[in-house]
Amino acid sequence: MNVLIVGSGGREHALAYSVAKSDKVDKIYCAPGNAGIAELAELVPIDSMEFEKLADFAQEKEIGLTIIGMDAPLVGGIVDVFEKRGLRVFGPRKNAAILEGSKVFSKNLMKKYQIPTAAYENFDSAEAALAYLETSNYPIVLKADGLALGKGALICNTKEEAKDGIKTLMLDKQFGSAGDKIVIEEFLIGREVSVLCYCDGTTILPMTSAQDHKRAKDNDEGLNTGGMGTFSPSPFYTKEVDAFCRKYIYQPSMDAMKAEGRDFVGIMFVGLILTKEGPKVLEYNARFGDPETQVVLPRMKNDIITVMEACIDGTLDKIDLQFEENACVCVVLASEGYPLEYEKGKVITGFENFKNKDGYYVFHAGTKKTEEGIVTNGGRVLGVTAKGSDLKQARKNAYAATEWISFENKYMRHDIGKAIDEAVDGITSN
Ligand code: AMP
Ligand code: GLY
Repeated sequence: MNVLIVGSGGREHALAYSVAKSDKVDKIYCAPGNAGIAELAELVPIDSMEFEKLADFAQEKEIGLTIIGMDAPLVGGIVDVFEKRGLRVFGPRKNAAILEGSKVFSKNLMKKYQIPTAAYENFDSAEAALAYLETSNYPIVLKADGLALGKGALICNTKEEAKDGIKTLMLDKQFGSAGDKIVIEEFLIGREVSVLCYCDGTTILPMTSAQDHKRAKDNDEGLNTGGMGTFSPSPFYTKEVDAFCRKYIYQPSMDAMKAEGRDFVGIMFVGLILTKEGPKVLEYNARFGDPETQVVLPRMKNDIITVMEACIDGTLDKIDLQFEENACVCVVLASEGYPLEYEKGKVITGFENFKNKDGYYVFHAGTKKTEEGIVTNGGRVLGVTAKGSDLKQARKNAYAATEWISFENKYMRHDIGKAIDEAVDGITSN
């Protein structure tokens, strides 16, 4: 079959890589894609928000499956447009993608169905939110209701910081209408873990765990970013934690969406925090994570097309998900300055070092092909990824491989996976 992938980041490159391994696939297209994806797929210059044009393209090229990587088209209803035309598409419909599209919706859902999460209040006026600050404990977390490129959560250590945060989100509208409403929630302490789950509306199958590093600088300092690196599996996500989450978080989340008439088909990404009182949900996303996907998919043994088709056909209960007994680490190479101002157009060299190296990958995010060669074209430029027999080895391999790539203003964190060193020996993880 022919496959169309919608998106242009490292996540979509990792998806294209997995799709290309499937025997079921003849040709891959990617809209709009990037310079790395171009080696596996034909790039299509259609914007991810042009749903009708994408559907026209899918019809014209007889696409057997369209995979939506990004959040904005899902939340905007791309799946509904494709389904209306009888096209096969992987991702939740608009009425289910709201799980990511509205924090107010997801928090209310968790409260109604008693899914463990931080205590919270919703606000649709800055005045009421400011008044609430007078009686709060600190730190406290402010979250824009809508999509904000992963940057809409503000951790405020004092009342003054929280006042500034409310101004930023609700009055200055840094994230536009995403800040019309906000959630103010309790600050939780614990290790964070991301678990991406395949869903068919009834059955939910969690993949192996991963941990992201959201802050721009070492030691979790600096601003929140889309993600600076990941490792999989998380040594903190033990078999006991997995069993708890399946029983009290994943299946109840799936059932809750069904009970609300919002059957969730696609990837439910559960952002967890492992607190002293047990695992709690920090957030849901309605799509693959970036850069979680870069460390999870290379370890998956199943044919990805078979699993995605089972989600669409409602036969996920027949699938036995299998992951390699190894580990994988992804270090993001960014443009110095990200997530604020940065320069683009710097020539990147060293890709040839990855040729024929088993277990090493260089996933492109913000790159572009020009006459001068491949150049930087975004904040997160590449995800240098490596497998290893265990987390320590994978981390060593990934950092060695970061040296193979050069470009002006190359920036990375040096402590991706450092938490691994602090993990208690002997913990077995999922
Ligand atoms: P979110 O967009 O909800 O995933 O939040 C982004 C990041 O902010 C999370 O990955 C956490 O690092 C942090 N965060 C969000 N909510 C909380 C919370 N209630 N307590 C502590 N940290 C949080
Ligand atoms: N890495 C976090 C996300 O994809 O939202």
